[in-house]
Order: sequence, then structure tokens, then C-alpha cells
Amino acid sequence: MKRLIAEREKARLGGGEKRIEAQHNKGKNTARERIAMLLDEGSFEEYDMFVTHRTTDFGLDKQHYLSDGVVTGYGTIDGRPVYIFSQDFTVFGGSLSETYADKICKIMDQALKVGVPVIGINDSGGARIQEGVRSLAGYASIFQRNIMASGVIPQISAIFGPCAGGAVYSPALTDFVMMAEKTSYMFVTGPKVVKTVTGETITEEDLGGATVHASKSGVTHFVASDEEEGILLIKKLLSYLPQNNLEEPPLAICDDPIDRLEESLNTIIPEQPSQPYDVKKVIEAIADNGEFLEVQRQYARNIVIGFVTFNGISTGIVANQPSYLAGCLDINASRKAARFIRFCDAFNIPIVSLVDVPGFLPGSAQEFDGIISNGAKLIFAYGEATVPKITIILRKAYGGAYCVMSSKHLRGDVNYAWPKAEIAVMGPAGATEVLYNRELKGIEDPEERARFVAEKESEYREKFANPYEAAKYGYIDDIIEPRNTRFRIIRALQILSTKKDSNPPKKHSTLPL
Ligand code: HXC
Repeated sequence: MKRLIAEREKARLGGGEKRIEAQHNKGKNTARERIAMLLDEGSFEEYDMFVTHRTTDFGLDKQHYLSDGVVTGYGTIDGRPVYIFSQDFTVFGGSLSETYADKICKIMDQALKVGVPVIGINDSGGARIQEGVRSLAGYASIFQRNIMASGVIPQISAIFGPCAGGAVYSPALTDFVMMAEKTSYMFVTGPKVVKTVTGETITEEDLGGATVHASKSGVTHFVASDEEEGILLIKKLLSYLPQNNLEEPPLAICDDPIDRLEESLNTIIPEQPSQPYDVKKVIEAIADNGEFLEVQRQYARNIVIGFVTFNGISTGIVANQPSYLAGCLDINASRKAARFIRFCDAFNIPIVSLVDVPGFLPGSAQEFDGIISNGAKLIFAYGEATVPKITIILRKAYGGAYCVMSSKHLRGDVNYAWPKAEIAVMGPAGATEVLYNRELKGIEDPEERARFVAEKESEYREKFANPYEAAKYGYIDDIIEPRNTRFRIIRALQILSTKKDSNPPKKHSTLPL
């Protein structure tokens, strides 16, 4: 017993008091402190505390630290089980050895068998240099498990320190990445290699800090100002997710009335069709208690994604954002939304789409970078999804973007429109130019031309820029009063809660990656 207690105490010290102090001086918590912050008090069951590495080269036969740089096990968060690994920077800079990888693989294998999420806390100098290829093998073994677990159990990565080289690919293979500001960075090649190879001088923060990955690359889904906030974010995120793909998401307790009328929505659409408004105001107005956990907030802001509950039912929101790029769909927005839709579909989370989209973003830059194959991902994701899909056209639904945004034709279950919806092949101005090109060429007088254009635009608007034409064909199930939207969505979610739909049997699709 004495030996056990002594060994445990030794293990809990990781790389020793000096290195723990250095960790704290950097504004970071230790691996074990992070686990204590995340898990319910007293719930942590640790595995493999007495594991040490097996390397003898470079004098490592004389340096052994119990746990070998990663703390692993399981516990509960708000009473629900999770498996966890937390990299310990105080032991060889948290670098990954063969035995360290084995520890992570062990909990991942078990998590998959019991159907419980895995949370990885990353803070590591990458492959343990002294171990060579055995360390690389360890990484690849983790990648393989990330892939097998994908779509079966939720996988969440917190980046609370360095994450460089091929090590970035394990978090990248998980469902959600969260980075802490200032103390974390991710890159495949660091500033020194960048300088040598390309001559570019750049700091770690500018190359792979949280801000860069939140706004430019979209690699991180969440940014936290510090570790404490990051831990709270993970807990919040988990509250929307089921434990695995065979379970329904948890039903939250809801004290917000389901028939709450939101008068502000009746006037939120501006008089002028070209005027923007903030779609997040609509989301907050209809969700339970106005709560919205936004995902990838700073990336591709022309589309808004995230989680809400409706009468306690966990739901994914996909909404065009008219106040950024007029809500146009572009490459980044398509990829962002497609990935989120596929996550929701894999984990039985219904999707509510709020549509106000003038079309795809035009231009050579978009075409050259592949808006065709990237836009196709969004169509694919919506068309493949079998979870309940509810669509509300708030205002514009033009052209291909109408088809894409969870239309009836892509197996939308319940499709509603607000009274000011405009559903057509293109906007009145563009349509008039195409349809009356010959007539317009014959009108020289600018005033007469303007009059003609205004008249034709108005005719076109009368005919198409309203929801009745689509409703006439049953493409829209009903035209609803905006203030009633919350109630209509909840009703739809209730009836669709027993929805069963499937896709033809196949090994997998050939989604246009
Ligand atoms: C072995 C390592 C290590 C590593 C750090 N350490 N990285 N030991 N292998 N990869 C050790 C240091 O020797 C030191 O030991 C302790 O960890 C803390 O490191 P410091 O350098 O003192 O800390 P800091 O100044 O904070 O710098 C952190 C760092 C730096 C930026 C991460 O250590 C660093 O650049 N490390 C190397 C990163 C790297 O190139 N890794 C390989 C990437 S490629 P002592 O005993 O002094 O405490 C890769 C391939 C993966 O990972 C492929 C997967 C497919």
C-alpha cells in the first residue's frame, strides 16, 4: 500500500515540480488540472498510470516518468460518461512515444466499444524525436482510430499548447477543434521551416494561432479566451450531442413556452430587398431562451451554423447571413455548412435551415478555386441527410441556391416560407436584363429605359418574387407568419421525431471532395 501511494504521488508530479511551475508561468494548466476542471468531481478513473517508455537511445534509459507524458482514462461530464486523454507537456514536452500512443489507442478502442465520446487535450512537441519511426507509427495508429470512430462517437479536440507537424492531423480528423487564444498553435510546418523553404518570416501566432485558424483556415470550430472558458465550451457542446450514433441527443429541460409569439420577427425583414439584417437575431428569437452555440463564428460569416434547442430538442441551425456578402454561398460557406450538416446527420440531430440567399457568389476567383465542386458538397450533404429537415425561407431563395438550401426536392421534410419570400431563378433586375435584352437595346432615351426596366421588374416581382408560386406547386408546405416561427418549427420537430428514412445500401458515397 505504501508503495502504491508513493508511486501514485510520483506519477501525479509528471515531469516534476520545476516543469509544472514553468507550465503555470506560461499561463497553462497541467494535464491533470485540465482533467479535474473538465470532469465531474471525483469521477475520473485513470488507466496506465504506471506506463513508461521503452526507449534506451539518447540516454532515455535513465529518464523514466510514470504515465509517459499523457494522462488517460474516463469520467463523467454532467453525469454522462466520456473517455479522455490529456497530454502532459511537463514530460518530454508532451511528445508522443510508442507507449504514449498505445495509451491513447486503448481508451479510443474502449470508447468505441462502449459508445462514449472521446475528448483529447493537446499540448505537445509532436513526435518524440528519440523514438524515431515508432513514434510516427503511434500517430498513424491514432489516426486510424479517429477514422473508425468518426460518425460513431463524437470526438472533440482541445488545443491548449503546441500542436505541430503531422500531429495536427489527429485533431483535424475529429469532429470539433477548440483552441485557446495566445497559448495554442497548430501548423504542419513551423516558422523555422517556413523561413528556410520559402524565405517568409512569420510568427507562430500569425502562422497557426487561434485567430488565424478561426477566421482564415476554419480549422478550429471554437476559440476560447483561456483554458477555463475552453472547458466550459466543451461541456456546453456535449450537452447538445448524443453519446453515439445509435442514441438520440439528450432532451434539455425547457421552461420557454413553445407557443411564444415573437412580434419582432414580423418586422425584421427590411422594406428594401437589398437591405441586410442579422439572421442571428432570428435564431435567438426562435430558440429556447435565445441560446445559440455558434460553431465557426469567425469563418465564412455568410453562413451561420450552430446548435440550439427547440422545446429541449437539440437541433442544428444552418442560416444564410444577409449582413455578410449579402448571404451569398461561396466555397468556404458551402464547405462549412456541408461538414456541419453531415455531423448532425451522423448523430441524429435534426437540421433547421433559415434561407435568405441571393445565389452563389459570382467571380473568377470562386470559379477558379472550384465553387462547382465545393458547392456540390453542400447539395450532397443536404440530399444525403436523413434526419428531420425543416426549412424556412425568410426572404430570398434564388437560382441554384434555392435548390441547395434544403429544398423540398432534396428531401426537405417541412418547408415553410415567410410572406416576403422571393423564390425564382434569379432576381428581378437580372431577369429583366436577360428576358428583355432585345427590347432594351432598342431604347436610347435613358428615362424611357429606366421606366421600361422598372415596369418589367415590377411585373416579374409580382409574378415570382413571392412565395405563392412555389406554394402553388407544393414546394412550400405553408406560408407562415414570422412571429409564429418558433411554434411551427417545434410542431414540425415533434411530428418528425419518429421519422425513418434511409439511403440505398453502398460501401460509401463518392461525395465530391
Ligand atoms: C522529445 C521534446 C520534444 C520532442 C520538446 N521536447 N519537444 N522531446 N521530442 N518532439 C522536450 C524538450 O527537449 C524539453 O525537455 C521539453 O520537452 C520542453 O521543451 P522546450 O523546448 O524547453 O519548451 P518550449 O520552449 O516551450 O518549446 C516547445 C516547443 C519546442 C516549441 C514544442 O520544444 C519544439 O520546437 N520542439 C520540437 C517540435 C518538433 O519539431 N516536433 C516534431 C514535429 S514533427 P527538457 O528536458 O529540457 O524539459 C512531428 C511528426 C508527427 O511531430 C508525424 C505524425 C504523422
